[in-house]
Amino acid sequence: MARSPEEIFTGIGGQPNSCSLNEYCSWARHLRSIASCRFLVFGVGRDSVAWREVNLGNPTLFLENNKDWISKIAAEIGQEHIRSVRYEQSYEDWEKVSFSADRVVSPAMDNPPFDGSWDCAFVDAPWGPTFGRHQSTHAATLAVKPGGLIAIHDCEREREQTVCRVLLEGRGYNLLEEVERLRIYQAPR
Ligand SMILES: C[S@@+](CC[C@H](N)C(=O)[O-])C[C@H]1O[C@@H](n2cnc3c(N)ncnc32)[C@H](O)[C@@H]1O
Repeated sequence: MARSPEEIFTGIGGQPNSCSLNEYCSWARHLRSIASCRFLVFGVGRDSVAWREVNLGNPTLFLENNKDWISKIAAEIGQEHIRSVRYEQSYEDWEKVSFSADRVVSPAMDNPPFDGSWDCAFVDAPWGPTFGRHQSTHAATLAVKPGGLIAIHDCEREREQTVCRVLLEGRGYNLLEEVERLRIYQAPR
C-alpha cells in the first residue's frame, strides 16, 4: 500500500533548507488528488526521493542549476530524472526593468519542458535569499496546463512575495492555500 505523505516526509520536513512537515504534506495531498499527475520540480535536495514516492507511477522531472547537487541526487534517483538549467537573469537585473512580467527571461536549457503539459510545478529553487525565483516561477507558468497548480516556497521573503504578486497574481493565478512559508496557486482556466 502507498505510504501517506506524513510517513514519507517524517524525518525530512523541518530540516535546514527544507520545507516543514506541514508544508510538504499539504502540497503532497494536492499532488495525490490529481490522476496521472505530471509534476515538474525546480530544485533537487533531500526531498527529491520523497517527491518521486508521492507521485509514484507518474512523471516527476527535476530541474537543477547546481552541478554538485545534480551529481549527489542523481546517485539517489537516477540522472534521467534531473535536467540541468542555468539562471542567467539576476534579481537585480529584473529590478532594473521595474519587475516587468514581460521582461523575465526563462531559465536556459536544452529542449525546455515549459510546454503547458504539466499538472503541477514546485518552485523551490534557485537557492538562497539573494537570487530570487522570478525565472523559475516564470518558467513554471509556461509549463503548467490551464487550471494547473504552482507551489512556491520561502514566501516569507520579500523577493518571493514580489514574484508571486507580479508573475502569479498578476497573471490571474488564484491563491488556493497558504501554509507557513508555502503558497499554492492555481492557473486560470
Ligand atoms: C532551498 S534548496 C531546496 C532544498 C530541498 N527542497 C531540500 O529538501 O533539501 C534550493 C537549492 O539549494 C540547493 N540545495 C538542495 N538541498 C540543499 C541543502 N540541504 N542545503 C543547501 N542547499 C541545498 C540546490 O541547488 C537546490 O536547487
